[in-house]
Amino acid sequence: MANHPWKHHDARLSGGASPISITVRPLTLQQDNAYFQISNPLLGTAMWIAVHNATVENGTLHLIPDAFSTLLEHSRDPDSDHHIRCYPDEAQAIPIELPAGGVVFFAYGTPHCTRGNHSHSDRAGAAFHFVHASCFAEDPALRANVRPDYYPILTGPEATGGEKEYGANIADTWPQEIEKALGARP
Ligand SMILES: [Fe+2]
Repeated sequence: MANHPWKHHDARLSGGASPISITVRPLTLQQDNAYFQISNPLLGTAMWIAVHNATVENGTLHLIPDAFSTLLEHSRDPDSDHHIRCYPDEAQAIPIELPAGGVVFFAYGTPHCTRGNHSHSDRAGAAFHFVHASCFAEDPALRANVRPDYYPILTGPEATGGEKEYGANIADTWPQEIEKALGARP
């Protein structure tokens, strides 16, 4: 693995809703590879972390297992100003219930979504995306279209804990980053 480091692709915080706090729409079914378009969807992985207990009632992550190999047609989600979505059989999506702090990993090709929050508590999830560094070699567009600091190198001999990308070592700053993200929510 040393010569094939993984890179962090992006980070996104998505949330649930309660009548008195944040209100965030559920995310409709999508494959992350519709955005990233790497040739092998198994070389990219999403990491979805339950910030709060994530249940069926509050709209936890749902995914369709064993459906990663074919890129489905995506189109603009009519309920979103920037997301795209696909239309596989919704009934195939299974809920993943997690305690706060629980983590799900799934390949870039896996259709997934979150549902509406029908509880009275927040339900936030933090989504991070990782891509194998070999994808950058095969796809110059992937390299060229984003800022270098968007792809910090996480493993292998080039990994610096963020020093190279951000000018500071950010190892072990996860709790502060989550606090910051939750503090910035609408
Ligand atoms: Fe996604």
